[in-house]
Amino acid sequence: MATTVSTQLDLGDIQGDILFAYGNDYACTSYVFVNIEGAEGRRWLSGLVDRVTTARPWPKGPDGATAKPDTTLNLAFTAAGLAALGVSAELLETFSSEFLGGMASRAAELGDVGPSAPGTWESGLGTGAAHVLATINAKRPDVLERELTAVREHAERCGATIVNEQHAQLLGGQREHFGFSDGFGQPAIEGVSEHKSVGGGVPEPDGRWRPLAPGEFILGYEDEDSRDDPEHRLPSAPAAPLGRGGTYMVYRKLYQDVALFRHTLRDAARGYEGGEKKLAAKIVGRWPNGAPLVTSPDEEDAAFDPTQPHSNDFRYLDRDPDGRRCPLGAHIRRTNPRDALGWEGLDDAGLLAFRHRIIRRGMPYGPPLPPHDVVDDAADRGLVFVCFNASISRQFEAIAVQWVNDGNSFHLGDDRDFLLGDSSASGKMTIQGDPPFFVAPQQAFVTTKGGEYLFAPGMTALAALADATESGL
Ligand code: HEM
Repeated sequence: MATTVSTQLDLGDIQGDILFAYGNDYACTSYVFVNIEGAEGRRWLSGLVDRVTTARPWPKGPDGATAKPDTTLNLAFTAAGLAALGVSAELLETFSSEFLGGMASRAAELGDVGPSAPGTWESGLGTGAAHVLATINAKRPDVLERELTAVREHAERCGATIVNEQHAQLLGGQREHFGFSDGFGQPAIEGVSEHKSVGGGVPEPDGRWRPLAPGEFILGYEDEDSRDDPEHRLPSAPAAPLGRGGTYMVYRKLYQDVALFRHTLRDAARGYEGGEKKLAAKIVGRWPNGAPLVTSPDEEDAAFDPTQPHSNDFRYLDRDPDGRRCPLGAHIRRTNPRDALGWEGLDDAGLLAFRHRIIRRGMPYGPPLPPHDVVDDAADRGLVFVCFNASISRQFEAIAVQWVNDGNSFHLGDDRDFLLGDSSASGKMTIQGDPPFFVAPQQAFVTTKGGEYLFAPGMTALAALADATESGL
């Protein structure tokens, strides 16, 4: 049994929206990538640091309700951005190699090939030109516009250049563009969201669940390894003053071909006795309203409410070891296998399931394709996929490379995550049953349009970056 992690989190030193989601009051988000150089860049940063939103709880208003600000602001840096701010080569070397290399350098591993290759990405992404990502969340489009104008004008005054802007907004019912409720399957963290441990934490063989150590998501705190270490040593992190309170952030703009998704399903469902809706649910592992297939195998439970306690309370081995309910290769079973890899915990790739969790904070972008349309309207739409983790290689990349882009861990050979697809169109979808049903390989439903690996520093680190003198940090 794991011991408890005693460290109290310093919420005022951690940026907001990492450990606690800002929530659906914020209907619009803009992601602004800025290029900064030297002293000018620091001037731009100094002007923004005081406005950065932290994880400290918002106060309550006179009516007792939480008084949330109209907008929030958060900052993250690429390796090129830290260098442009004057961070020394010696200090930079203490960051992880995948962060220093950047997302574009990991294209082959991430499956960013063919139409997803970095050479096709939107301008400003994957080239070293993007230095800082300013993420602005807003309750309404008018306040977003006001804040965006302020950030743009401030950049212009400081000689900083905006190299990429992406605007995103919630779709009705917290759905993503393929029509599924999204964003509630999140890790439960000690001292943060332990009340969601059942279904969100680590499943234990005795039927209980426990929360994950905060150091899995925030650097400078004990992680799951520290629990078992008699000396409680902390995981590796960037050297002072940058490491503590920060974390790594993954940004990916993922285009979704909704028309292709819909007509692939319509065609495939002609031979599937469960019909189109059930086939789509089998690919995701949940029904469109989020009800898990493990607990609702035959039809969507209309009463399912993902915000209710215990809504995420399920495991795979007890009720569904063979994938008859939720297929072994369904999106949610691949991306968070819970207990499905067995109590030894290691899959064929040597991965221990609970060490590969991520906090997702994505947002859909672009207009919805009208319901039932199966002809592409050429609009740009998809998901701005954002996640936070203490180790990009152990967490995000392990999921993306070993579990999403490969079937071996689940004894599924070449099958890949069918929800995201595969630009080489070699992986089929296997739906276990008597007899099993196979959906033929298809072109990718999802194409990468750009991405960056970033570092979201704690507030002390942000201040140090902004204050660094001409001689750097
Ligand atoms: C356009 C691309 C994507 C779409 C449409 C999509 C959609 C979904 C949906 C509908 C869910 C179930 C709802 C929930 O648990 O919150 C989900 C869960 C999840 N997805 Fe994705 N996803 C996409 C890309 C990715 C990528 C690239 C990764 C990571 C490499 C990922 C990791 C996860 C994880 C970890 C979960 C939670 C599983 C759980 O805890 O049970 N997703 N996704």
